[in-house]
Amino acid sequence: MPVDLQNPLSFKNATGDADTMLQNLQANILKGHVREHLHILLLQFGQGAEGTAEARAFLTGLAPLVKSAKAHLQEVKAFKENGPNDASDVPYVGVGLTFAGYGRLELADRAPSDEAFKRGMQDDATRQKLGDPEVAQWEAGFQEAIHAVVLVGGAEAGSVTTKLQEVEGLLTGSIRVLGREEGRGMHNANHDGIEHFGYVDGRSQPLFLTEDLEEERRRTDGISVWNPAQPLERVLVADPAAPDPATDFGSYFVLRKLEQNVRAFRQAEEALADALKLENDDRERAGAMLVGRFKDGTPLTLQATPGAHGPVMNNFTYDSDKDAHKCPYQAHIRKTNPRGSGGFGQPPEAERRHLMARRGQTYGERTEGDLPETGVGLLFMAFNSDLNKQFEFTQHTWANNPGFPQPEKQDDPDPGLDQVIGQGDRPPATWPKVWGGEEGQEVPAMAQAVTMKGGEYFFMPSLPFLRGL
Ligand code: HEM
Repeated sequence: MPVDLQNPLSFKNATGDADTMLQNLQANILKGHVREHLHILLLQFGQGAEGTAEARAFLTGLAPLVKSAKAHLQEVKAFKENGPNDASDVPYVGVGLTFAGYGRLELADRAPSDEAFKRGMQDDATRQKLGDPEVAQWEAGFQEAIHAVVLVGGAEAGSVTTKLQEVEGLLTGSIRVLGREEGRGMHNANHDGIEHFGYVDGRSQPLFLTEDLEEERRRTDGISVWNPAQPLERVLVADPAAPDPATDFGSYFVLRKLEQNVRAFRQAEEALADALKLENDDRERAGAMLVGRFKDGTPLTLQATPGAHGPVMNNFTYDSDKDAHKCPYQAHIRKTNPRGSGGFGQPPEAERRHLMARRGQTYGERTEGDLPETGVGLLFMAFNSDLNKQFEFTQHTWANNPGFPQPEKQDDPDPGLDQVIGQGDRPPATWPKVWGGEEGQEVPAMAQAVTMKGGEYFFMPSLPFLRGL
């Protein structure tokens, strides 16, 4: 039976083509793999016949190290049933190719066909669409022609470093390492993963496995109001260069290095609290209005104060907050997932198809209490089946678009840019003075605190493709 791409999948009950698909798919796509310690290598293959041969040999040599989705899911199952075991600490290795990378492999004619993937992130049309800085302003490694990316991630620094060395041992003379990135998980006192501005991250995700949906139903506030289920087709793409596209799948992978100016963001939180004359505990609401959740993850549309962090709530929409008197339209999570309230004639089901599987990790060292302006941020990573409809749509048509979402009352002012990731001219925005109150106040825009330092689009191919090169 062909793989059912129209629904989520039960990996425990997968048989036939669906089981083969899991064996042939890279891990970290359908379900995030632990990447507390993460290394990223940006690679360029050499020219000519020798470059092609060495690139192919590198990828076939890498194939046995690349973890399959099936191996990963079995490890997770064993861990849940019996606790830590020998496999719990086996790092994940993942690999992706750019369109230019397929060219160096002499496979451009069989490369995945997504238009944005073919353009790449350095392309002027892509940069203009996304509002990204000139390539000359990006970090050095990202300015070059990138052909491949390798990710090595896991729970423990030691085993991840050993695995990275194994990968590096496969590199031969014509393959250049253009850049290296290192990610490291950050946590709050509640052990939740956070990003550099201090907010719980990675909470709201599309879920592709029925086992993950069941867990969400049992262990969180549920899925009755916001159902995170998504069909496999939202993330899987038949691998056109693999032996059997009916069982061999891959996914488009977005990588963006996003520097966070922590001092600027803190100043913006304070400035907004001052402008609205928020006092005492209510001052925390300023930051929550920028993000859409309090630092501990409590959704602002549900509560005026933090405290709902065990488990972090995700079972909500903006239905009871249509006028955005609780969570402003311009808050990051409302801009990037309006949960059916965006307007512009898009019914909730159509809106859901823009969501993507986020797999980001924080980077950069800091000491407690400091407020770095540079050198720290988010290695934004996400899997998509359609870059134009998912990542690019979210950044361009939602985050960077001052007119989105459509305010409930026609005369209400435009929301303005996404307060975290919006790129472009920043018009002033209007904010509720009191949580749930009607009175809004216009405040001059805060400075942009997130700066794109480079990135690229990749395709993470199937294992049979890598083995067969
Ligand atoms: C959610 C921070 C970049 C899309 C979140 C959350 C935080 C956050 C704190 C709330 C946790 C959660 O709901 O999972 C950041 C920071 C970024 C960044 C600090 C940059 C430095 C991006 C980018 C995109 C994006 C580039 C896409 C273009 C999303 C989406 C959600 C989210 C879709 C989930 C919204 C929901 O389903 O309610 N982000 N983010 N983020 N972010 Fe970001």
